[in-house]
Amino acid sequence: MRETDQTGDLPRILLYWYDIHARQMPWRVAPADRKAGQRPDPYHVWMSEIMLQQTTVAAVRDYFTRFIDRWPTVADLAGAEDADVMGEWAGLGYYARARNLLKCARVVVADHGGAFPADHDALLKLPGIGPYTAAAVSSIAFDAPRTVLDGNVERVMARLHDVHTPLPAAKPELMTLAEALTPQNRPGDYAQAVMDLGATICSPKSPACGICPWRDPCLSRARGTAAGLPKKTPKKPKPVRHGTVYLAQRADGAWLLETRPDKGLLGGMLGWPGSEWLDVDKDRPLGVPPVQGDWRPIDGEVRHTFTHFHLMLSVQVGAVAADAEPSVGTFVPPANFRPSDLPTVMRKAFDLSRK
Ligand code: ADE
Repeated sequence: MRETDQTGDLPRILLYWYDIHARQMPWRVAPADRKAGQRPDPYHVWMSEIMLQQTTVAAVRDYFTRFIDRWPTVADLAGAEDADVMGEWAGLGYYARARNLLKCARVVVADHGGAFPADHDALLKLPGIGPYTAAAVSSIAFDAPRTVLDGNVERVMARLHDVHTPLPAAKPELMTLAEALTPQNRPGDYAQAVMDLGATICSPKSPACGICPWRDPCLSRARGTAAGLPKKTPKKPKPVRHGTVYLAQRADGAWLLETRPDKGLLGGMLGWPGSEWLDVDKDRPLGVPPVQGDWRPIDGEVRHTFTHFHLMLSVQVGAVAADAEPSVGTFVPPANFRPSDLPTVMRKAFDLSRK
């Protein structure tokens, strides 16, 4: 009874809630402005969605604003130097996203006249745009009735329908349920509304069911199972890898840095030369210094977690001669060295060396 009675009303109820409670975001057009005819800039929507993958709204805000200030249009971004874009992205993580961001901007300029295509299939062909981003850009930027399924939406659907299949196996089922709710009316606002609901009220640990606009139709609330959903297949513990980085500094203050190869972890990012990262904790330091100098170990170590492993890095600092010839990398004078250009793990190594 519940579903047949109320399913048609669910989007309408949520949109009513969103009209009042929509979160403000620098890339978002508020529901009232949207009703008044304002449209979001597809470039902004695309940029925000790429940044938001695996990253929180709070972490993305400032990055988004800096990118848009520096490269106000997709053509500006397409014309940027690779190193400048990678430097602005430093700290956001998942650096393949930044490389694809730049590739995508260049394809949009070369093949689409500098305007993001509204067509979903054309979006899917662009570098770095998968089913999630294509659906998000189609719905949010172009108001197409596409279904966006991120972690927030999965949680909301699992609870609303009391789905106990564990993730990730539940994804197709949750997608079908989410599709059945996606309305023809205001699909862009609706997509953002479900995400906002998941991020604010239907939160992972203690959902605020008492103030949820979907509290009446929510099956898991009625059955008391909401807080334990969605179920998840336990993940394998991550292995630990070990490595050493070498921070070489000349007397004039220049630091030895390398641009990492495009392929592989931290691809295209600036970093300290160092050893491979190995599964076994060999006698440290690992690898060899990239240049002759007076090397000393720094107490402590850097810990950083990547998608598939934890990394423990030991740090060596070396004072090197003015005419020293490094085997890799180039010396960057202090005026051109910004620690904020480093990806987080390399930044942690720098910070440890300064303590
Ligand atoms: N998370 C990812 N994209 C989002 C959006 N457009 N609105 C709210 N949360 C999001």
